[in-house]
Amino acid sequence: MQPARITVFAPATIANLSCGFDILGLALEGVGDLMHLELTEAPGVEIRKVSGMDLPLQADRNVAGVAAMALLEASEYRGGVAIEIEKRIKPGSGIGSSAASSAGAVWGLNQLLGAPFTTPELVGFAMKGEELASGAAHADNVAPALMGGITLVRSTDPLDLARVHCPPALHTCVLHPQIELKTSDARKILKTTIPLKLGIRQWGNVGGLITGFFTEDYGLISRSLEDGIVEPVRSLLIPGFTALRTAALEAGALGFGISGSGPSVFALTRGLETAQAVARALEAVYGGFGIPYEIHVSGVSREGVRALPEADPGS
Ligand code: HSE
Repeated sequence: MQPARITVFAPATIANLSCGFDILGLALEGVGDLMHLELTEAPGVEIRKVSGMDLPLQADRNVAGVAAMALLEASEYRGGVAIEIEKRIKPGSGIGSSAASSAGAVWGLNQLLGAPFTTPELVGFAMKGEELASGAAHADNVAPALMGGITLVRSTDPLDLARVHCPPALHTCVLHPQIELKTSDARKILKTTIPLKLGIRQWGNVGGLITGFFTEDYGLISRSLEDGIVEPVRSLLIPGFTALRTAALEAGALGFGISGSGPSVFALTRGLETAQAVARALEAVYGGFGIPYEIHVSGVSREGVRALPEADPGS
């Protein structure tokens, strides 16, 4: 018998990984949202409660609601679902806040229904939430949120996803300046065409990065963490970007860039100790800026959304 209620942890994610705009992403350990889902006799989606952030309770204006509705419409189930969200990832942070809610909602609901849908199908439903949040149904946050590890979105139409090998020593450091940058705004400022020369360099880097991950060639990973297309435009919106990059690379980072659409920035490192050294170096830079920030040092989560044990109602 399927449980009537489930609690899930939905991880934060770093999308793009510099050169892979809209196609690459990875899941973080330890940073994420908690969601409680319960089947209801009443059809449709009820967002019962959102704690931690001020987000809409109307299901058709909430990314988790829209994603869950897409799943319900495709299923044979005639009842509905009630969702409570403990939001820990700030919207507009650049570490996949909307993706965590969308992915958590569809994964949890699928479990409650006896897992009728495959993971790629869940990615498709979760992309409806991304479309509501940013105006574009990109999958580079929801794919790693649902699949874990590092993921490649080869195509969104039709959806074609691949898991990329993650070197075990790979770690991340994310600095989140406490300013909000909406993904929809950070997408509007991008040009829609690129010169061929830039394209050639960018797809060389994407191929290099993926090869570097598979062969655990940290030199190749490092050289490939370069973005000549999106970063030059978006980095202008992030206070201290160049100083942060210099500090991260001097502290031993393999590379440094914008996490998703920003304002968070990320570094990839070989090993936890280097990630901690990068964190100290970034803090030293940002301490002088007067902008509040959060910093996360994390490995890459091999798992995506996962179930957590239910609290004992009697305790
Ligand atoms: N690929 C998306 C973007 C990710 O950069 O706009 C948003 O988190």
